[in-house]
Amino acid sequence: MSVTLSIIYLIATVTFIVGLKKLGHPDTAKSGNLIAASGMGLAIVGTIFIHDLEVPTIIYVLIGVAILVGSIIGWLIAIKVEMTKMPELVSLFNGFGGASAALIGIVEFGNADISATSASIVATILAAIIIGAITFSGSLMAYGKLNGSVKSVIKIPQYNIVNNIFIIGVVALAAYLVATGIDSSILLYALVAGGLVYGVLFVMPIGGADMPVVISLLNSLTGIAAAITGVLYDNMVMLVGGILVGSAGIILTIAMCVAMNRTLVSVIFGSFTATGGPESANKAMGSIKSTTASDTAIMMNYATNVIIVPGYGLAVAQAQHVIHELEELLTSKGVNVKYAVHPVAGRMPGHMNVLLAESNVEYDMLVEMDDINPQFNNTDVVLVVGANDVVNPAAHNDPSSPIYGMPILDVENAKHIVVNKRSMNVGYAGIDNELFYNAKTAMLFGDAKKVLTDLVSELKNM
Ligand code: TAP
Repeated sequence: MSVTLSIIYLIATVTFIVGLKKLGHPDTAKSGNLIAASGMGLAIVGTIFIHDLEVPTIIYVLIGVAILVGSIIGWLIAIKVEMTKMPELVSLFNGFGGASAALIGIVEFGNADISATSASIVATILAAIIIGAITFSGSLMAYGKLNGSVKSVIKIPQYNIVNNIFIIGVVALAAYLVATGIDSSILLYALVAGGLVYGVLFVMPIGGADMPVVISLLNSLTGIAAAITGVLYDNMVMLVGGILVGSAGIILTIAMCVAMNRTLVSVIFGSFTATGGPESANKAMGSIKSTTASDTAIMMNYATNVIIVPGYGLAVAQAQHVIHELEELLTSKGVNVKYAVHPVAGRMPGHMNVLLAESNVEYDMLVEMDDINPQFNNTDVVLVVGANDVVNPAAHNDPSSPIYGMPILDVENAKHIVVNKRSMNVGYAGIDNELFYNAKTAMLFGDAKKVLTDLVSELKNM
């Protein structure tokens, strides 16, 4: 490799690390993204133009066309995608990353004289193929589940045992190819098929609130697949990029598991089960009390401390601007307002932070769960907007609940609780919420944007 290309790769690697660091805070996230993307662009251009091979011009044309088509499609998707659909998009991107690694592995297997190639290289090629294929089909399956086109959460007895035997079979086939050095296309494609089938089997039983964790895990696998192809090509930038994605994905996966009080093993092997629907809740938990925008506005107007709890419904309603208007109005009336942000509120990490940053909410007003929980005792009104699971006291009180043990926002400690949602429907985890039946709780039914707009106009008239 030329010295120039090595320097380009070094610069790109540094931009990835700096970019990742800057992604850690909303003020610097945009520039971090641009810095890392520029480094990636530089590495791609360097790889295409600085190499030791004789390449016919047509190859440059093909690469140029592929980059152009890919960039246009990516750009169109990125500007059109709704924030609530981001996990689906991430899933698709993961899938394509995995497919690329698998295709590189297949091409390299075809190019190499397998019987004369060292076992470690063959093993690396086959690892890229297996991990890439699993990530590709698993991510497509996750995409289907998230957009609702794949519904089933199968509960076949001994499913995990069957699954584990299957993946052991796939790995055994790979080990056989490495040990014997057989150059067999049939066995190679059997391996690809095995990886693809396992990806589907792996994601199939996972559902409910565990899906974002699985997507993060698949993201991590994409990174590992990219790192393996980096080893294959002795390409430092692919290796470092892959390792960063792989390790960041694992850290995120573990952080989500901790926030939901789940172990990674239980996410992968124990499918999430809901306890019942709204009707059973009505029977078991008593009656609810509803309120109006006018009554809520009066209560907030005379409050000293108000905490707003945003959840997934706020994102669905795209009510981030009007909630900011409400918060500014209350602040101008001398009310102390804060937002309580649960680490897994919404559908992706940092979902609420990003959503509220869109409407220029001061970042200091967003308080994380551990810091805000002791403050609910001293709060006059909690306004829960489109959140459900993250304020469900079953996490503390009901050992039979699938979310038992998950840290939640302790909103029930406040003096008054107002919950805005459209109906008594369950949240993402599919479980009932006793908070709605609490004597201190009043339900403010309606779409969040409409309800918050009504609240703002009521407050303006006071
Ligand atoms: P959810 O528990 O999903 O509840 C959202 C609520 O919003 C629903 O009950 C829904 O009730 C309401 N809603 C929907 N559209 C609305 C609208 N237009 N206006 C008003 N309300 C609306 O949300 P959450 O409390 O944010 O919890 C997040 C869930 O995702 C948790 O289960 C969490 O474990 C899971 N999860 C998240 C992540 C990350 S990283 N964020 C990762 C893993 C799992 P109605 O239909 O009655 O309106």
